[in-house]
Amino acid sequence: METSFHSFSLKLLIVLNIFFTLSSSAPLTDFTTDRDALLAFKKAITADTSGALSKKWLTNTSICDWAGVSCGIKHQRVTALNLSNLALHGILSPHLGNLTFLQSLDVSSNNFTGVLPGELSKLLRLKHVNASSNNFIGEIPRGILTNMSALEEIVLNHNKLSGELPSDICNNTPKLKILFLRDNQIYGNIPTSMCKCREMEELSLSQNHFNGNIPTEIGNLSMLTILSIHDNHLQGNIPSSIFNISSLELIYLDHNSISGSIPMNLDNLVNLKELCLNTNNLTGEVPKQIGHLISLKYLSLFENILTGMI
Ligand SMILES: *[C@@H]1O[C@H](CO)[C@@H](O)[C@H](O)[C@H]1NC(C)=O
Ligand SMILES: *[C@@H]1O[C@H](CO)[C@@H](O)[C@H](O)[C@H]1NC(C)=O
Ligand SMILES: *[C@@H]1O[C@H](CO)[C@@H](O)[C@H](O)[C@H]1NC(C)=O
Ligand SMILES: *[C@@H]1O[C@H](CO)[C@@H](O)[C@H](O)[C@H]1NC(C)=O
Ligand SMILES: *[C@@H]1O[C@H](CO)[C@@H](O)[C@H](O)[C@H]1NC(C)=O
Ligand SMILES: *[C@@H]1O[C@H](CO)[C@@H](O)[C@H](O)[C@H]1NC(C)=O
Ligand SMILES: *[C@@H]1O[C@H](CO)[C@@H](O)[C@H](O)[C@H]1NC(C)=O
Ligand SMILES: *[C@@H]1O[C@H](CO)[C@@H](O)[C@H](O)[C@H]1NC(C)=O
Ligand SMILES: *[C@@H]1O[C@H](CO)[C@@H](O)[C@H](O)[C@H]1NC(C)=O
Repeated sequence: METSFHSFSLKLLIVLNIFFTLSSSAPLTDFTTDRDALLAFKKAITADTSGALSKKWLTNTSICDWAGVSCGIKHQRVTALNLSNLALHGILSPHLGNLTFLQSLDVSSNNFTGVLPGELSKLLRLKHVNASSNNFIGEIPRGILTNMSALEEIVLNHNKLSGELPSDICNNTPKLKILFLRDNQIYGNIPTSMCKCREMEELSLSQNHFNGNIPTEIGNLSMLTILSIHDNHLQGNIPSSIFNISSLELIYLDHNSISGSIPMNLDNLVNLKELCLNTNNLTGEVPKQIGHLISLKYLSLFENILTGMI
């Protein structure tokens, strides 16, 4: 009696299970790979005090309804993941690299640790990455900075990233417009290969340990509006090629060990609003061309060995 009841209820369960699987469209439209990747991501979270994932990523609902998950309308594949500012602790799972349709990833302002997974570079549609304000360590995986043909924006400010930038940076990241690495522990030279990111608009490498000279090739970034490399250990002269980039609006070179004189070709900087060259070892006369900068609102030259007047 008892056995047959068990077997009956087991059959009923199977029937019910099939019924629910077929009737609730959700699990059917979810691609198992995306679901598995998100579950692997969730598994790597060690603390979720706000309950963002534990309460809102329920396995009986479609992943497209999960908090912070966006899917494409047509194929119901995950296109964006925004888990910004949710007090998440843990590592960023390498299985994120299986979210083939991902275009945007925002895990900023959490407490992620460990390395950025190199698997992210498999995401051929990924355009936007914001992982700022976490505790990521180690090198930025080479593939991310050298070989992501759709990448437009990568923001990694305020982490503990270290190592050097790859010497073939920008080899195959032709769409990269924003590269923010502010406030990390990255050292070594600024690679000359950076000039291959032809569409670069905003570049911040400030508050790191970069040394060596500012590469002349930076002057080839003709769409640059922000060049922020302050608070590093940069030496040598300011390449005059930089002052040829007429799109520049903000130039921050302060708090380095830059020497030589200020290049005279400042006239080209018709859009320049802020120029910070203070706390370096600049010598010679302040070029009178500074007076021609029609858009300039902020200028700081103090703590140098400059002469002359403005
Ligand atoms: C992601 O893809 C890799 C390689 O194809 C596979 O080994 C791994 O199991 C996948 N992860 C998940 C969570 O499906
Ligand atoms: C999913 O399961 C949770 C409990 O785990 C329940 O509260 C919720 O109502 C279920 N949602 C659906 C759509 O079945
Ligand atoms: C992620 O969500 C936060 C808070 O809602 C928002 O401020 C931020 O712009 C979003 N990020 C992206 C990439 O859309
Ligand atoms: C990245 O995230 C930080 C923290 O949430 C936010 O302040 C910033 O605006 C974001 N940056 C970009 C470029 O999306
Ligand atoms: C992040 O986690 C580390 C180690 O678990 C801890 O020391 C630190 O205080 C945390 N930071 C924040 C902002 O929660
Ligand atoms: C660049 O990325 C593509 C696509 O992921 C891959 O097939 C190729 O091997 C990568 N090339 C290099 C040099 O890493
Ligand atoms: C920089 O641009 C100039 C002309 O605009 C070009 O001749 C030169 O090859 C470029 N240099 C690099 C390293 O791309
Ligand atoms: C700056 O531009 C001027 C005029 O376009 C050009 O003659 C000069 O060679 C350029 N200088 C550098 C260092 O690129
Ligand atoms: C400037 O040069 C002097 C002597 O070479 C050095 O002691 C000083 O630290 C330098 N200052 C900066 C801001 O690099």
